[in-house]
Amino acid sequence: MLRSIVVFLCLYTLCNGCKFMNIIHYDSYKGTPISDKEYKEYIKKNNTFWCVNDIQPCDPNEWRRIDGSCNNLKHPTYGAMHTPLVKVLPSVYDAGYEPRKAKDGADLPLPRYLRTSLLLEGKVPDQMLTQLATNLLTFISSEVTSVQDTINYVLWKPYCCEPRGKADRSCTPNKIPNDDPVHRFSSIRCLNLTRPESFQSMGCVRNDTTPDRILSSTSTLDLSTLYGGNLDMLKKMARTFQNGLLKTEIEEGREWPPSTKSKTDICLQNQKPAETRCHSTPEVGSNSLFAVNLFVIWFWRNHNFIAKSLAKVNPCWDDDQLFYAARDVNIAIYLQISFYELLPILMGRKNMIMNNLISKLSGFRDLYNDKILPQQSIEMAAVLRWFHTMQEGSLKMYDVDGTYLKAFPVVNLTLRTGFLAVDNNIDYLTQGSFRQPCGKADYIVDPDIAEVGLGTLQQAFDIPTSDLTKHRYFGFQPYVKYLEYCNRQKYESFEDLLDVMDPERVEMLRDRYNHIEDIDLMAGIWLEKHVRGGRIPSTLFCLITEQLGRTIASDRHWYERQDRPHAFTLQQLLEIRKATISRLICDVGDKVTQIQPKGFLRAGPGNEMCSCNSIRSIDFNAWADPQCVVNKRNK
Ligand SMILES: *[C@@H]1O[C@H](CO)[C@@H](O)[C@H](O)[C@H]1NC(C)=O
Ligand SMILES: *[C@@H]1O[C@H](CO)[C@@H](O)[C@H](O)[C@H]1NC(C)=O
Ligand SMILES: *[C@@H]1O[C@H](CO)[C@@H](O)[C@H](O)[C@H]1NC(C)=O
Ligand SMILES: *[C@@H]1O[C@H](CO)[C@@H](O)[C@H](O)[C@H]1NC(C)=O
Repeated sequence: MLRSIVVFLCLYTLCNGCKFMNIIHYDSYKGTPISDKEYKEYIKKNNTFWCVNDIQPCDPNEWRRIDGSCNNLKHPTYGAMHTPLVKVLPSVYDAGYEPRKAKDGADLPLPRYLRTSLLLEGKVPDQMLTQLATNLLTFISSEVTSVQDTINYVLWKPYCCEPRGKADRSCTPNKIPNDDPVHRFSSIRCLNLTRPESFQSMGCVRNDTTPDRILSSTSTLDLSTLYGGNLDMLKKMARTFQNGLLKTEIEEGREWPPSTKSKTDICLQNQKPAETRCHSTPEVGSNSLFAVNLFVIWFWRNHNFIAKSLAKVNPCWDDDQLFYAARDVNIAIYLQISFYELLPILMGRKNMIMNNLISKLSGFRDLYNDKILPQQSIEMAAVLRWFHTMQEGSLKMYDVDGTYLKAFPVVNLTLRTGFLAVDNNIDYLTQGSFRQPCGKADYIVDPDIAEVGLGTLQQAFDIPTSDLTKHRYFGFQPYVKYLEYCNRQKYESFEDLLDVMDPERVEMLRDRYNHIEDIDLMAGIWLEKHVRGGRIPSTLFCLITEQLGRTIASDRHWYERQDRPHAFTLQQLLEIRKATISRLICDVGDKVTQIQPKGFLRAGPGNEMCSCNSIRSIDFNAWADPQCVVNKRNK
C-alpha cells in the first residue's frame, strides 16, 4: 500500500515536471513548432497571445481538450483558438488590401445604401417557428465567431466616426448617404466600424501579405462559449473540483453561473443599482447577446444536471471523470438538438441526409478523416449572420400560464445580464422563447436590428450593413462566384440570376449594381430564393453544408463516432438521441412545467402544450459503470 503511494507520488511529480518541460510553442498561423529564439521575439513584441499556441504533447486517448488542441494528432494546433480560417474561395482585394472595386474601376455602391434599398424593414411573424429557433442559431454562431471585432469599435477604437478616425487605418466606418430613408431626419452620417483583425494586423505575419483572419474561439462545435478555450481559465473560474460540478450561485432560488466580483464588468447596459448580475465564465462572450446569455445559463445548469445524474449511477467516479463525462454528454446533447432537431427544419431533413450531415439511422456513424483539419470557413461564420433577418426585435414575456405580460427590445439586452436576474424576467423570457414566433424569412429585417443594433452602446447601428461591409474587408469574391461554386454553372448576365431569384429581385440588383460580378455575396443571399425543401437561401445552405461537412469529418471527438476516446456505447448514444430542446428547457429552464414537445415549432394541433412529465428524458442508467459495482462489492 505504502509502496504504491510512493510510486504514485513519484510518477505524479515526475509527470508534472515533464509536462511542464514538454510544452511546445507553435506558430499559430503555420501550425508548426517554433524555436526558443523565435518565441523570445514574440515575447519581446508582446504578441504571444495572438501568434503562439502553447500545447502539451497529445495523448490519443484523452478527452476532448478544453483548448481544442490535439483534435488532429498530426496537426495539434488546429482546433484551438487563434488559428487560421479556411477560405472556400480565395480572397480578392484592391491594392493595399482595400475592398475590391467594381468591374468598371469605380467604388462599389455604399453598403448602407444597398442595405436600405435591398433588405426592407418590418415585422412579419413566422407561422411555424418559435424564438427558440433563432436563439439557438445565435448561440451556435457565437461558437464560431470572433468577438474581438465588435469589441474593437465599441471599446478599443470608439473614435472611428470622429476626425481622429480618418487617420487610423483600422477605422472603416460606414457612410450614411444624405437621402437615407431614416437618417435624412437625423444628423448621423457615419456608423462606427473597424477593419477585421488578422494575423497581419496583429504582427504575427508580414503585413504586406493577404490578410488572414484570426479565429478567436475553438474551431469545433464544443460549447466553448461555456467552457472557454483555455484550461487554466476553466480551472480558475468555473470548476468546483467536486463531483464534476461547475461553480454556481443561487439567487432568489435560481441557479446562475458565478458572477464577476470586479467593479468594472462587461455588462455595460446593466441598469444599476437594480441590475448587478454579470457572469464570470471562462468565455467573456457569455454575457454578450440575449440569446447567447440564455443558452449559456441553460447549458451551464445542464452540465451540473448531467454531472449529478452520472454521480448517482456511478458513486465511484472521481471529480475529473464526472466533469469530463458531463461535458461530453452536454456537448452531445447540444449537437443532437442542433443537427437533428433545429437544422432539419431550416435546411430540410432530406437535404441534410443527402449531404451526410445527419444519418437516417440512430446507431453510430463515422465520417472521420484525419486529412481534413478542424477549421472553420470564414464564409460560413460570415453568412450565418443572414439569420439576423429572422430575428424578432421585441421579446414578448409571458407568465407560466401563457398570459402575455409585456414586451422588451432585444437590442437593449446586449451586455445586460443583470436584467435577467430581476423582476422574474428570466422566467417570463423563457416562456416567451417557446411561445413567441420568430421573424419570417422573407427579405425583411426587424427595424431594431437594422437601425439600433447595439442598444445604448451606440447612437445608431445597422447590423446587416456592417455585415456587408465586413465581407468586403474579408476579401470575399462576388456573389456569382459563390453561385458558380455551389451550382456548378456559369452566371454571366443578370438574366442568369432568374434561376435563383424572383424577377423583381433581379431587377432590384440590376438597378443597384452595374455588373453581375459587382454583386456582394451578402446582397445576393438577402434576395435569393430558398433551397428546395428548406427555409433558407440556397447559397447560405451551400456554405453551411460545406462547413458542417468539415466540422463532422474533422472532429475526432464527434459524438456519433464509435471509435473515439471515451466513446459512448450504443445504448448511451441511443439515450442521447432522445434529447430535445423541450426536454432541455424542462430540465433547466426557470419554472417551466409545460411546453409543446417540439419546442422550435409553435404550439398547435399535433404539437399541443403538455406537461414536462410526458416529454421523454435521457436515462442515465445507460452510463452505469460496472467498475463501481465491483468496487462496492469489494468493500
Ligand atoms: C501586451 O498584450 C496584451 C494582450 O494583447 C495587452 O493586454 C497588454 O496591455 C500588452 N502589454 C504591453 C506592455 O503592451
Ligand atoms: C505595415 O506595417 C507598417 C509598419 O508598422 C506600417 O507603416 C504599414 O502601414 C502597414 N501596412 C499595412 C498594409 O497595414
Ligand atoms: C431601449 O434603449 C433605448 C436607447 O437605445 C431607449 O431609448 C429605450 O427607452 C429603451 N427601451 C426600454 C424598454 O428600456
Ligand atoms: C461611435 O462609438 C462611440 C463609442 O462607442 C459612441 O459613443 C458613438 O455614439 C458611436 N457613434 C455612432 C454614430 O453610433
